[in-house]
Amino acid sequence: MADLTVKICGLEFKNPILPAAGPPVRDGRAAVACAQGGAGGIVTKTVSTRAAQVPRPCMAEVKGGFLNTELWSELPPEQWLEREYTLAKSTGLPLIISLGYTAEEIEELARKVAPFADALELSTHYLGDDPSPMVEAVKAAKMVSQVPVFVKLSPAARDIVVAAKAARDAGADALVAINSFGPCFGIDVETGRPLMGSKEGYGWLSGPALKPLALRCVFDIARSVDLPIFGVGGVSTGLDAIEMIMAGAWAVQACTAAILKGPKVFGQIAGEMATWLDEHDYSSPDEIRGLAIRRFQERRCTTEAVPPEYDVEKCTGCRLCEISCVYDAIVVVDHKARLNAELCFGCGLCVTRCRPGALRYAG
Ligand SMILES: Cc1cc2nc3c(=O)[nH]c(=O)nc-3n(C[C@H](O)[C@H](O)[C@H](O)COP(=O)(O)O)c2cc1C
Repeated sequence: MADLTVKICGLEFKNPILPAAGPPVRDGRAAVACAQGGAGGIVTKTVSTRAAQVPRPCMAEVKGGFLNTELWSELPPEQWLEREYTLAKSTGLPLIISLGYTAEEIEELARKVAPFADALELSTHYLGDDPSPMVEAVKAAKMVSQVPVFVKLSPAARDIVVAAKAARDAGADALVAINSFGPCFGIDVETGRPLMGSKEGYGWLSGPALKPLALRCVFDIARSVDLPIFGVGGVSTGLDAIEMIMAGAWAVQACTAAILKGPKVFGQIAGEMATWLDEHDYSSPDEIRGLAIRRFQERRCTTEAVPPEYDVEKCTGCRLCEISCVYDAIVVVDHKARLNAELCFGCGLCVTRCRPGALRYAG
């Protein structure tokens, strides 16, 4: 069985699947449920110096994703300090405490959470495109705290690598990428009302639709900044986690999946990840970390039409390839696809649609 343990900044996680700051870790009881559900560590909901006044409705499932306008914790910091962090700490898992937002707020909060925190995670969500407030916040955390400081980056940053480098130069020990993306908008067609109750009607996107953006951010950061990365965005299965690790993440966090499926999802993702690693003869996630970066560097960039390889035995005649081949290069005859290499444009779409893996590109 693959060994899923991972060590990041001196913290040992029994597996690399953690909750991301959000409702699944909205208080100590919820954090305990995540631990029981199989999480390898705990990240708590972002706390600031005062309780958030959250506009409602603040969450909606949308096609392919999820919208929220939740802000930070609606619980006051005093309650976290008196009760919630103690409960979260009782899980015995590494406890990463998410704090927001300005340098002054971080300085005040970092001192107070010191008895509980194994690491701090700074949310930079509302700090805008200019990295200097984030840099000041990291410096403040490093000044008053003995534990590693992780910086969570927002995809709203114009250039996430610039933000990642600024965080590193300010003293960050690890990076967390990414927060939800926005602003976005959703409508309840029965009433015509915006789905989100925020002043502008805006919400922030998470879930499956966010994953390609999150992967790109992790991939870009991993190639340019030599710090551990927690990959976040659209992870809900073991394969999603494998992709994140291949893009360069050391561990992953999940929020939307735990909202929609419950806290048992952490153990499920870890189990699926271990099974995939076993089936592919890898003994740990370390062996695939950054694989996409290495393959990308070896790859030959081409404008030639290279048809995929086709394994007739695997073809089930489902016609997904035929229906979406806009070049008419595939027809299904007698329940088997026939690929016309002359007509094939090499667009690659059929490879990604072929469920049984009959159409593939060579490794
Ligand atoms: C309802 C909701 C509340 C969130 N609250 C926070 C938060 O307090 N702090 C934070 O850093 N990120 C917060 N996030 C962002 C998530 O931690 C995560 O970065 C993002 O949702 C992408 O991951 P996912 O696709 O697994 O949800 C929240 C996300 C959702 C959906």
